[in-house]
Amino acid sequence: MSALKPLKALWSGLRHSLRAQLLAWVTATLVCVLCLNLYFSTSRAREAANIVTDNMLLGSARMIAEAVRVDDGGNVEVDIPPAALEMFDTGQGDNVYYRVITAWGTLISGYPDLPSPSREQEGQGLSFHDHNVRALMLNHPLVGLENDGGINVTVAVTNNGARAMRHRLLLADFESQLILVVMAGIVTVVGLRAGLAPVMKLRGAVLASRRERLEPFDPDMVQTEIKPLVLALNDYMQRIERQMASQRRFVSNAAHQLRTPLTLLATQASFAARETDAERRTEALQALTRSTRQLSRLAEQLLTLTRAEPGSRAPRAEHIDMAATARKVLEAHAEDALRRGIDLGLEADTGAVVVGDGTMLREMVVNLVDNALRYTPAPGEVTVSVATVYGQVTVTVRDTGPGIPESERDHVFERFYRVIGTQQEGSGLGLAIVREVVVGAGGSVTLEDAEGGGLVVTVTLPAATD
Ligand SMILES: Nc1ncnc2c1ncn2[C@@H]1O[C@H](COP(=O)(O)OP(=O)(O)O)[C@@H](O)[C@H]1O
Ligand SMILES: [Mg+2]
Repeated sequence: MSALKPLKALWSGLRHSLRAQLLAWVTATLVCVLCLNLYFSTSRAREAANIVTDNMLLGSARMIAEAVRVDDGGNVEVDIPPAALEMFDTGQGDNVYYRVITAWGTLISGYPDLPSPSREQEGQGLSFHDHNVRALMLNHPLVGLENDGGINVTVAVTNNGARAMRHRLLLADFESQLILVVMAGIVTVVGLRAGLAPVMKLRGAVLASRRERLEPFDPDMVQTEIKPLVLALNDYMQRIERQMASQRRFVSNAAHQLRTPLTLLATQASFAARETDAERRTEALQALTRSTRQLSRLAEQLLTLTRAEPGSRAPRAEHIDMAATARKVLEAHAEDALRRGIDLGLEADTGAVVVGDGTMLREMVVNLVDNALRYTPAPGEVTVSVATVYGQVTVTVRDTGPGIPESERDHVFERFYRVIGTQQEGSGLGLAIVREVVVGAGGSVTLEDAEGGGLVVTVTLPAATD
């Protein structure tokens, strides 16, 4: 188990290092090439050694054949020339065997049981007296021999010399190949270093770049293949930069928004503290309570907006009945509507179900109804309709108030934006929350004029499919 650990570490190191991976591929290729080359070299060396041995065997056989004579008595005899055998003495302790016979098989000289190769003048590997030998046979005409027949000379030699030659050839081949492989390896390492240098430079630049300023990187500092990565990185950083800027703006706006009511609160508190008249004091404390409520509403809306932002909450996919949601919201606002002199009504289809975050969808309806109630003067009407049309759930909030001028309709969805001259208190966050929730649920929101004045806000959401 523990013996595997360093191997595992090596493997994970290899897997994660580009340089190590490239090097491993190149090394594997070189080793394959080396093995293949060695295989071919071995057979080439054997062939070469065989050719040399065969030539020597043929030379020796010729020398012996030429030494064969027919004497006056018609006897065939041979005086083996020493050179014919000494030529095999290469210091490897080889044994040489020969046999000279007439065409009809009479032994003239040599080993009678020396095996004959199957073809003439062609070397062949044979076994003789438990030795592996290479043997060659030569037919030679001999003048003066009866029937004009020839003689047959076979020479065989053990394999030591040939083996030594084979090894020498192989070693020389291996040496040159090894040098080639090592050189290829060195060139590869140097090439890799040069090729990866721009990437390393980019890495250095990324590590060195300061977090607060996201400067784009120069795409020309790397090769064409890596350029798209740098461009994507720059694009990504630009998005983050934009997001960071909007966050900064939001925080500073939120702080401003909180500061004004807090100042008011402090003033009202000190005013109430100084007041001696019981009735006026009660009035001051009531004003203080109202301001506190507004402030807590603002804090709540800030919180809702941050929650509605993508990525701030784990995405929820609940099945939400929008008609039921709208009914609950209206019930909660019924008293408020009555007090304001507004007729609050609901027209709801059943089965208007969407998939999304229930809390956020409810918050969306709350903000629309809250706006409609606050901006509609008494006596007025606010109607919420929920319907399913062609796979879309629409939530419409219609009021009989002043409506929103055409030129303001794009702006009212921005955070903290309020139409100038708006009498009611507010933070400018309500419609921003609505848009964030609707977009998050994959829908859209539009503002229109109602017939006879007033505003129609239509939220369209994809209906749940099952
Ligand atoms: N139903 C409506 N009728 C008229 N004006 C509206 C209505 N709803 C929103 N508005 C206008 O849009 C602006 C932005 O609304 P909102 O984002 O909810 O912020 P807030 O209500 O806090 O001012 C409001 O200041 C108001 O002028
Ligand atoms: Mg509002």
